[in-house]
Amino acid sequence: MSVKKAIIPAAGLGTRFLPATKSMPKEMLPIIDTPVIQYVVEEAINSGIEDLIIITGRGKKAIEDYFDDSPELEMHLANKKNTEMLNLVRDVSSLVDIHYIRQKEPNGLGDAILRAKKHIGNEPFAVLLGDDIIMNGKPCTAQLIDQFEKYGRSTIAVEEVPYDKLSSYGIIKGKPVADSLYVLEDIVEKPAPEKAPSNIGAIGRYVFTPEIFDCIKEAGPGVGNEIQLTDGIRVLSKTQKVYAYEFKGKRFDTGDKLGYIKATIDFALENKDLKDDVLEYLGKVLSSEDTPFRKMLFEGMKQKDALTKIESETFEVEN
Ligand code: UTP
Repeated sequence: MSVKKAIIPAAGLGTRFLPATKSMPKEMLPIIDTPVIQYVVEEAINSGIEDLIIITGRGKKAIEDYFDDSPELEMHLANKKNTEMLNLVRDVSSLVDIHYIRQKEPNGLGDAILRAKKHIGNEPFAVLLGDDIIMNGKPCTAQLIDQFEKYGRSTIAVEEVPYDKLSSYGIIKGKPVADSLYVLEDIVEKPAPEKAPSNIGAIGRYVFTPEIFDCIKEAGPGVGNEIQLTDGIRVLSKTQKVYAYEFKGKRFDTGDKLGYIKATIDFALENKDLKDDVLEYLGKVLSSEDTPFRKMLFEGMKQKDALTKIESETFEVEN
């Protein structure tokens, strides 16, 4: 059976992006001029998804409004004969048929996915986290669907994670079975780095068989007393093979401040109207004589390391 349905969980509180997310969904933060969630919706469509469910919560109305028609704005643009912007606005609302389901409380990603059980029924489906953007010619979700079509089993996208970030991810223990593909032996949510089973972590893209729903229920609450998707995946892997696939592409966690900045820079450098000006500006910042960080930035050092080095050099000179 092919994968035609997808869930985009977007009901989280986005506490890492406060205060902006106090009254604005983090999924609506723009990368240049396009909200993060639009990139996610486009990835789903470009992967062959025809039926999309967005999980929303309190304070997320802006997402529904964004993908809806906007008669006043359209009339205004039509009157001004601004056809370019009019088409842009109309394109967004005609992207795909989207359904919305509320998660009453943000009780975790597993719980958010459970809300869509009735709508999904007994079919395989994809999950795309509403704040992860992946840049690649072939969309990450389409890569997972390829694996699903080969093996007929749930497949989760993974990538290598730096040691100091292991405790932010679901980390897998896997047995390599083909190029970039592992069979899952275990998965642990947010392990302490020294207890992590590997340095390979699950990112925000998945394809599941429908049995995952019962497995999430069976697993119950986990880390932070939230219903964790990771625990459901572990239960599923005990009764069915689950695969982990090292996807091709560059991923940005836009729910994290640094990830958001990186996405903005990379997308600006991909934008033909902005690229030259942004490059010129970045060049100026990096080569400015005013900044003591210049040389060290070029050497790839982090600013805080640079600062420590400057402080220790100053100390040596003074003493
Ligand atoms: P995150 O853990 O990154 O989202 O969940 P968060 O909880 O909003 O982030 P912080 O840590 O407070 O900043 C990944 C995705 O799962 C959704 C989020 O909206 C995000 O897209 N999610 C998370 C839900 O839909 N419901 C939840 O209960 C938790």
